[in-house]
Amino acid sequence: MSNVTVIGLGTMGSTLARLLLQNGYHVTVWNRTIAKADPLVQDGAVLAPSAAAAVGASPIVVICVHDYPATNQILDTKEEAAALIKILR
Ligand SMILES: NC(=O)c1ccc[n+]([C@@H]2O[C@H](COP(=O)([O-])OP(=O)(O)OC[C@H]3O[C@@H](n4cnc5c(N)ncnc54)[C@H](OP(=O)(O)O)[C@@H]3O)[C@@H](O)[C@H]2O)c1
Repeated sequence: MSNVTVIGLGTMGSTLARLLLQNGYHVTVWNRTIAKADPLVQDGAVLAPSAAAAVGASPIVVICVHDYPATNQILDTKEEAAALIKILR
C-alpha cells in the first residue's frame, strides 16, 4: 500500500507527486492521459491501472484535476464508490 495517491498529473498534480516522492513517501498515481505518469514512474511512483485502483491504493487521496465536473467524472462510478467506502471503513 502507498502512503498517498495523486490523481491528476497536470502541472499541479505532477508537482505534488514529485515533491511527495522526493520526501520519501510511497506514491501511487493515475491520470486520464496515462503517458503523463511516465516521468513519475521513473522516479519511483506506482501507476495504478484504473482510477478506482488508485483510490484503493492509499489511505490519502489527492485529486488535482481541472475542476469539480472533472473530479465527478472520475469518481462517479460504482468501482470508485466501492473503493472510497473501503477507505472509510
Ligand atoms: N498550476 C498551478 O500553478 C496551480 C496553482 C493553484 C491551483 N491550481 C489548480 O489545480 C488544478 C489543476 O491545475 P493544473 O495546473 O495541474 O492543470 P493542468 O496542467 O491543465 O492539468 C489538468 C489535469 O486535469 C485532468 N483532467 C481535466 N479534465 C478531466 C476529465 N474530464 N477527466 C479526467 N481528468 C481530467 C487532466 O488530465 P489529462 O492529462 O488527461 O488531460 C490533467 O491531469 C486546477 O483546479 C487549478 O486551478 C493550479
